[in-house]
Amino acid sequence: MPNQSDLVIRVVAMPADTNSSGDIFGGWLLSQMDLAAWVVARKLTPHRLVTVAMDSVVFHKPVYVGDCLLCYATVERIGRTSITIHIQAHAERARGGEEVAVTEGRITMVALDENRNPVPIAEA
Ligand SMILES: CC(C)(COP(=O)(O)OP(=O)(O)OC[C@H]1O[C@@H](n2cnc3c(N)ncnc32)[C@H](O)[C@@H]1OP(=O)(O)O)[C@@H](O)C(=O)NCCC(=O)NCCS
Repeated sequence: MPNQSDLVIRVVAMPADTNSSGDIFGGWLLSQMDLAAWVVARKLTPHRLVTVAMDSVVFHKPVYVGDCLLCYATVERIGRTSITIHIQAHAERARGGEEVAVTEGRITMVALDENRNPVPIAEA
């Protein structure tokens, strides 16, 4: 099981990703983290995956328009039907290029069969 932290998403925070105050919207960040978890989980099972939980999400620092968002993923647990992945999101600042940890959280995805019932991860 891979347990090192892999860079799985690198994307630019755009003006369209801001809230009404002009700050990068937390929901956008969470969706990037959700995608990052899926990118990793899809390699571990042939089945459709859904997110069942996002836990321990902490927004440490803001992300600004023009920053690059980097999502690092670590597989924490492979259960019977679920996979839990820790995502650490960093911002590579547009000004200066410094990389800072901005958000982290634990995402659990469940493998489903054709009837949308949980199915063992490795069962084809
Ligand atoms: C995913 C879903 C099928 C799970 O149904 P369920 O009745 O909880 O299924 P189970 O109790 O059999 O649990 C399945 C797995 O999920 C895990 N799980 C369930 N709830 C969890 C939670 N809150 N946190 C972490 N893991 C959880 C269980 O531990 C189990 O894992 P394991 O087999 O590796 O031990 C159901 O909750 C669902 O369809 N949710 C909606 C998913 C979705 O639409 N996501 C997108 C949101 S926009």
